[in-house]
Amino acid sequence: MRLLLLGAPGSGKGTQGQRLASHFDVQHVASGDVLRAEVRAGTPLGREVASYQRRGDLVPDQIVFDLVTPVVVAAAARGGYILDGFPRTVPQAIEAADLGRRLDVTLDAAVYLNVPDSVLTERLLARARADDSAEVIRHRLQVFTKTSSPLIDYYRDRGILMEVDGSQSAEAITAEIKSRASGR
Ligand code: AP5
Ligand code: MG
Repeated sequence: MRLLLLGAPGSGKGTQGQRLASHFDVQHVASGDVLRAEVRAGTPLGREVASYQRRGDLVPDQIVFDLVTPVVVAAAARGGYILDGFPRTVPQAIEAADLGRRLDVTLDAAVYLNVPDSVLTERLLARARADDSAEVIRHRLQVFTKTSSPLIDYYRDRGILMEVDGSQSAEAITAEIKSRASGR
């Protein structure tokens, strides 16, 4: 199974990514986690990544490709993946499609977890990761609307968009994605 989870900050990409990866026995590839691991490693690149993540700005595409592509390639070789947060710009989607062609794999579905902004903010304030302050959350939501939401139409145009009501319980969302993905 090869799925992409697309959704605003707090929409449940990480939660569903873990649950679906374990169900389908594939790797959960979360770009935010890959980038945070680089920050923890304390490399110069990690310091650069941290400066974007701290503000809630997207990390430049080239850095994302350099760090995330090897993880996607390894997961593809092991039979599939649940992509969480990558691609999240149109240039990243074009590059990811190109990578898919080189690896001879295609996405089964791009799952859009649709959740109202008020619910997203409430969830993130309750979690309190380093980038979960009210001000940074507001900015992350704006960045999603401006830069990542065009991917909804991008994948709809390619016939693989699966829109899901992400304000349901985590269990109900997983069940819906499992049943709709298996029908593809
Ligand atoms: P990233 O780590 O991807 O964060 P995000 O997109 O802001 O999303 P979150 O991880 O905050 O939320 P989520 O959708 O995973 O929800 P979760 O399951 O945790 O990116 C962080 C930063 O890294 C970016 O700002 C950027 O700087 C950089 N970055 C990452 N990828 C990049 C890329 N491709 N290009 C450029 N830059 C990139 O849930 C949130 C909370 O809600 C949790 O507490 C959870 O328990 C709860 N919850 C989840 N589901 C439910 C539910 N159904 N009901 C009730 N509560 C729920
Ligand atoms: Mg996440």
